[in-house]
Amino acid sequence: MCGIVGYIGNKEAWPVLVKGLERLEYRGYDSAGVAILHGGNFSVYKKKGRVAELSKFVKNENKENIFGGVGIAHTRWATHGEPSDRNAHPHLSSGGDIVIVHNGIIENYLSIKKILTEKGYKFISDTDTEVLANLIEDIKKNARVNIDEAVRLALKQVVGAYAIIVLSKDDPNTMVIAKVGSPVVIGMGRGEFFVASDATPIVEYTKKVVYLEDREMAIIKNKKLTIKTIDNKIKNPYFQKLQMKIDELEKGGFPHFMLKEIFDQPRSIEDSMRGRINIKNAVVKLGGIENYLDKLVNAKRILIIACGTSWHAGLEAKYFFEEFSLIPVGVEYASEFRYRNPVIYKDDIVIVISQSGETADTLAALQLAKEKGATVLGICNVVGASIPRATDAGIYTHAGPEIGVASTKAFTAQITALLLLCLCLAKEKNILNKKRMKELLTELEKIPKKVKEVLKVDEVVKKIAKEFKNAKNFIFLGRGYGFPLALEGALKLKEISYIHAEGFAMGEMKHGSIALVDENMPVVFIATKGPLYEKVVSNMMEVKARKGKIIAILSKGDKNIKKIADYVIEIPETSDVMMPFIASIPLQLLAYYVALFRGCDIDKPRNLAKSVTVE
Ligand code: G6P
Repeated sequence: MCGIVGYIGNKEAWPVLVKGLERLEYRGYDSAGVAILHGGNFSVYKKKGRVAELSKFVKNENKENIFGGVGIAHTRWATHGEPSDRNAHPHLSSGGDIVIVHNGIIENYLSIKKILTEKGYKFISDTDTEVLANLIEDIKKNARVNIDEAVRLALKQVVGAYAIIVLSKDDPNTMVIAKVGSPVVIGMGRGEFFVASDATPIVEYTKKVVYLEDREMAIIKNKKLTIKTIDNKIKNPYFQKLQMKIDELEKGGFPHFMLKEIFDQPRSIEDSMRGRINIKNAVVKLGGIENYLDKLVNAKRILIIACGTSWHAGLEAKYFFEEFSLIPVGVEYASEFRYRNPVIYKDDIVIVISQSGETADTLAALQLAKEKGATVLGICNVVGASIPRATDAGIYTHAGPEIGVASTKAFTAQITALLLLCLCLAKEKNILNKKRMKELLTELEKIPKKVKEVLKVDEVVKKIAKEFKNAKNFIFLGRGYGFPLALEGALKLKEISYIHAEGFAMGEMKHGSIALVDENMPVVFIATKGPLYEKVVSNMMEVKARKGKIIAILSKGDKNIKKIADYVIEIPETSDVMMPFIASIPLQLLAYYVALFRGCDIDKPRNLAKSVTVE
């Protein structure tokens, strides 16, 4: 979480930095701040709240000192210290020589703070970051070293995760960047450099970028870039070309990124399977994992590790793999897995799933699985992010940038990639014959069209959302492939509308949760045609008997359920295994419209951040 931006060059830094912060607001929006080197001193502007608050503040009253070609900026998701102007970054050192922005957590900041306090340093904020600013200043002064060496020596004392950008007013032509755990990318223009937590603030200026690795630091001095490790070993920068397009980062006429991304799904699902299926020959081709197919075939077990919505995609995949590739699958929360002593065998395949590729817990779990000798594959959306770089091999989901904090198109792209992986494995293991494989691939190929069709339920869902905008609670129920969807539907509603919602395996209802049902309880049923249909109908009757308000997502033309349910959302028919692709859409729309009618900030829900780079 938190986004950092830096600029050094011949342009005015302020507009580059502010625009960059707007792009990174998905990472946190508790406060925003900018520091510009102006007339030999740092002008620091910071405000609690969104980047827009900061811009308004500067526009109204404080514009005189914002000019200069060197600056750093930050958008915050608070960890140490409440959201406030005082705790907002950038942080200045006591003597005013050093200014810093930081994404991450310095775990041993209290012990460093104690030593610095005894030396007479004063602290204005409650943050761990201000401690680092003062530590760098202290080292620079006492060891009489330049800024890059002072940063390096300071980092040798620091325990924790960070991506930092540091400036010193004594050395106006130098910018120092370093990272452990949190991401940072450097864009190289003509005589100018752009630094950011991801490539979105950089892409419109240059496509030539270098991603720093853990324990690396970059020193930009007199328009030259040097990369070395924190242990002082020089490295050759590895430049990559960005593939991102700017229009993917705009709302494109939609009122919110979330709605744009929901409606983008026919395209994003298609892109996730593009070039990967050949119906005629009944094969799935996944270039990224080709060299690992033997390992997959011989694996006795798959472990899937993820967080949030990606975890729900992983749970969906458990059903895919068990049905089609006959392999036992465990699905783990990364935050639990990493702190246990999980039993992992050398022939286990671990699949980590992450939209951002930066989730701290998922990254740590991945590293643990690797240490224990497992083969780790990644399913990731952001190309070049930390997770795909750390895995043995993987599959990119190609959903395009997802900016709304509530994940939508990333989920359907993840299940596309996972189903493809599962079918690829089934083929290798000779579990599916050519005819069945062809049937499945033909059905999969139709999914983007069916998603386009299901998006027409928009108005129906909107009406239902209006009815329930004041609900205090919601229940979501599903069986089989519908169970992970019930969890995902509840999560979507919670995160953007702040209504308490729970998802349950439908069959578990009677073991406790049914006690929650009364005439005020909306209960969303995933009730499409499938092998468990009769059981779903029985469960629906049980809820009806207790006067719950039933909202059913059902297969088009199902008269039976129409008679029982209070509200219906009809979706195109498909096979049971493909149902999650279609049924997830009305769940996303329901959350969106309920949040809209409640006046919530849909793309930036309270307390959340899209990329969770702290544990
Ligand atoms: C955050 C986001 C969720 C996301 C989860 C995992 O909590 O708000 O939308 O599902 O992180 O993120 P990842 O990038 O690893 O998929």
